[in-house]
Amino acid sequence: MDAAAHAYFFGGAGREQTLAANEHAWCKDWLWPRVLATPARIDTSVTLLGRRCPTPWLAAPMAHLRLAHPQAELGLALASAAQGAGFVLSTHATVALEDVAAACRSETERGPLWFQLYPYGEREDWLRLAQRAARAGFEAIVLTVDAPVQQVPTRAREAGFTLPPAWPQPNLPAPPPRGTLEELLAQALHWDDVAWLRQRCPLPLILKGILHPADAERACAQSLCDALIVSNHGGRVLDGVPPTATALPAVSAAVRGRVPILVDSGLRYPTDVVQARALGAHAVLIGRPLLVALASGGAAAVAQLWRRWRDELAATLALLGAASLDDLPPLHTELQPMPA
Ligand code: FNR
Repeated sequence: MDAAAHAYFFGGAGREQTLAANEHAWCKDWLWPRVLATPARIDTSVTLLGRRCPTPWLAAPMAHLRLAHPQAELGLALASAAQGAGFVLSTHATVALEDVAAACRSETERGPLWFQLYPYGEREDWLRLAQRAARAGFEAIVLTVDAPVQQVPTRAREAGFTLPPAWPQPNLPAPPPRGTLEELLAQALHWDDVAWLRQRCPLPLILKGILHPADAERACAQSLCDALIVSNHGGRVLDGVPPTATALPAVSAAVRGRVPILVDSGLRYPTDVVQARALGAHAVLIGRPLLVALASGGAAAVAQLWRRWRDELAATLALLGAASLDDLPPLHTELQPMPA
């Protein structure tokens, strides 16, 4: 991978404070193991939107994967499906959404297949794209709401990153907004746009990029989504916002079980997934670790990574004395003194 593409994939906004904090925040609380309580069987599955998923994770939507490997989104989607992981295809994918859906169809044990929507153009453009995704076999629309004003990560800007000419982006609803800040602001999404799409969208609607509990409360109170994703976009949009491990308990308290919660940003080990679960998430999205795998060895390396994660999650649950993620004891309550 050339240096500018590397800076684009792995960089963050500003001075990268949030990017750095994301990873550390997952290991602030210790996991208390239990001994002599090893379950006979471990189940790594979870239920999401009424569907059994073999693993609690999905590949996060990431743009321009062809820069990392020629197999691009097809390689990542297929390897994820084969290993029981979910996959979210970015609006900025370099492969047509129909081809990704067709490649995953024959995998019987696959996780969820979702399409991430950036609302470029007019409302009707978003709806047409959501309908196209539904026809192809996608199971939900992930509407990203945290990047109305998009910036290139600092490192990428400094490295002079630009997309190659005639770059394929076959799923854009309309050309991405360009121009002055005023023009970008005029095209930003608002709550009434979400309500409009929610009423018409043929698939469940998931909001990605919630950090503030008041936004979570509003989305639930007005029934604007079927699930939400606590995310700071992997530290790429606004530097200085809290890591998601910090935001998650506050969002979970605001949601009060009304919709399932997913989380991403900085999860690097299956133990982080257990921490996320203990803080209120039902499932997680994984970003850059998959980029490393895809860039280094294509679909085969992605499949290996997911396989290792599943084995390590099962081992983690065994050491905590839990047969499944639903069976986890509360991990972050203060240990009470035992009665005499
Ligand atoms: C992203 N992310 C992202 N999100 C989204 O909704 N649409 C997109 O097109 C992209 N594109 C994108 C490109 C690259 C290179 C990265 C690294 C990330 C954000 C992504 O879905 C997810 O929120 C974060 O990547 C999760 O953080 P980690 O696991 O990378 O730390």
